[in-house]
Order: sequence, then C-alpha cells, then structure tokens
Amino acid sequence: MKKTSVYDWPTRLFHWLFALLFLAAFIIAETVDDDSSLFSYHMLAGLTIAFLLAFRIIWGFIGTTYARFSSFKLKPAELFQYVKDAVITRTKRYLGHNPASSYATIIMFISAIGLAVTGILMTSGSETDLYEETHEILANVFLIAVIVHLVGIVFHHFKHKDALWSSMMDGKKKALPDKVGISNIKPAAGILFIIITLLWVGYLGAQYDRNTQSLDLFGTELTLGEEEHESVSAFEDEDHEQENDDD
Ligand code: HEM
Ligand code: HEM
Repeated sequence: MKKTSVYDWPTRLFHWLFALLFLAAFIIAETVDDDSSLFSYHMLAGLTIAFLLAFRIIWGFIGTTYARFSSFKLKPAELFQYVKDAVITRTKRYLGHNPASSYATIIMFISAIGLAVTGILMTSGSETDLYEETHEILANVFLIAVIVHLVGIVFHHFKHKDALWSSMMDGKKKALPDKVGISNIKPAAGILFIIITLLWVGYLGAQYDRNTQSLDLFGTELTLGEEEHESVSAFEDEDHEQENDDD
C-alpha cells in the first residue's frame, strides 16, 4: 500500500530525544541516591526535556499539519469510540495522531512541564514535601502514559497488523484516500533544532559547577545533589539568626 509523509524531522527528532531523556531521568531517579553527584544528570536531563518541549510547543503552532496541536483528536467521545473499536473490532486509521496518542501526548507534555517546575522549585531552595510529592506523582503519571503508549503501539502491530511504530522513524504512514500527507518534511528545521539543543546542553554544562553541584539557570541558583540539603539548612540558619536579632 502506498505510504505518505506525515511526521516532519523536528517532530521525529523531538520524539526520540524526549523518549531517551525521559528514560534517563527516570532510571537515574529510581536507581541513584539523590545525594550522589550522578543525580545531577537527572536534573540536567529534566531541564533539557523542558527546553525541547518549549520548542515542540512552538512547533505545535507553526509546524507541518500533523505536528500541529490543531490536528490532535481530543474529543472525549472520539477517544471512547476509538478505544472501543480498536479493542473489539477494527481500528479506525488516522493519518496524524489518533485520539489515544493525542491524549497520551498531552498528558506527557503536561507532566513534563509540571516535573520541570516542581524540580526547579525543589532545587532552588524552596524544598517542601508538596513539591516532592507532586514531582513523584507527575513522574508516575508520565510513566503510565508511556506504558499505555507502548502497549497501544504493540497492540496495533499485532491485532491490527498496522506497523504504526515505524511512522516515528521514517515519518510515513499508509495513505488514506481522503487525507493528504505533508509535502515538506523540514530537514533544515530539524538540523537547526539539533544545533539549538546542543547549544542548550553546552549552556547547562558551562553554568554547572561540579564542585558545588550548583547550576546558575538564568540567575536562579539550582543546587543539585547533596548541597541541596546544606543550602536549605543555610536558609534555616539565616532565619534563626533573624529571629535572634528580632529578640
Ligand atoms: C519513553 C519512551 C517514549 C516516549 C516518552 C514517547 C513519547 C511520545 C510522544 C510525546 C509522542 C507525540 C509526538 C509529538 O507529536 O510530538 C509520541 C508519538 C509516537 N510515538 Fe512515542 N514515545 C516513546 C517510545 C516510543 C517507541 C519505542 C515507539 C516505536 C517504536 C514510539 C512510536 C511512536 C509513534 C508511532 C507515535 C505517533 C503515534 C500516532 O501517529 O498516533 N514511541 N510518542
Ligand atoms: C521529565 C523530567 C523528570 C522526570 C521524569 C523526573 C522523575 C523523578 C522521579 C521518578 C523521582 C523520584 C521520586 C521519588 O521516588 O521520591 C525524582 C526525584 C527528584 N527530581 Fe526529578 N524528574 C524530572 C525532572 C526533574 C528536574 C528538571 C529537576 C530539577 C531541576 C528534578 C529534581 C529532582 C529532585 C531534586 C528529586 C529528589 C526528590 C527527593 O528528594 O525525593 N527532576 N524525579
């Protein structure tokens, strides 16, 4: 069957970087002690995810047809019908994101934003149980969305003999009679996206001080690793001193 281009370069590059960094951040968080210097890579991966996402959101408004949020299928009734049909009988094919992956994408994006916000709040001195708990809940929501996403892809492959998974690699899907694919897969924008991401990683590297495990993020001091606790106690000490002065 004839295939047509659907996902442009920036969308596909974003997808694989986002997936890789999510796995890295998650695995580090679950296997490395948060006092270890290796834990810094958790936060550097998380901050890079947030950076990639900022670009993906802009691309969601100015990118090619199926990268745009306006092409996402977010009507709850359509999601319900889609899942019911896919499980019971035949699945409806979509050229862009189907309703289930549209929802999974939005859930992953919102959790990633929340993780970056709570992560920054935790490491900038305002550590409270609320931020930590919210961070943990969001990480689990993200993980569930990823698992559902992967189960969906495997399900499509085996039950519907639809190799949907390859569309995030070659950017192509089986053509549909009433829908047109994209005519420009935007390789130059993809290369620019990679260059800007590398610049961001370079910026993070330059702003990160290995000795103090702190990162100056546009003037906000994020204290990573074990220093984090010391900086919190430094704040507490200041408060005590102030209280004493007031006395
Ligand atoms: C940690 C692992 C993964 C994460 C976090 C993830 C995340 C995402 C996200 C955010 C999207 C939406 C892309 C966008 O529009 O920007 C997406 C779509 C997609 N992903 Fe993944 N993904 C993961 C693993 C995989 C794997 C292993 C495959 C296939 C081998 C895959 C195949 C796809 C496909 C085919 C779509 C498009 C679905 C559609 O057309 O409806 N993903 N994924
Ligand atoms: C998508 C990105 C991220 C994911 C998936 C993620 C996931 C996680 C997970 C699973 C944990 C362990 C929670 C627990 O079991 O207690 C954790 C802890 C933590 N994360 Fe993240 N995180 C992300 C981004 C960030 C960012 C951007 C920062 C900081 C700038 C950050 C800072 C932290 C810190 C400091 C902890 C330790 C909290 C504690 O002491 O319990 N994270 N993260």
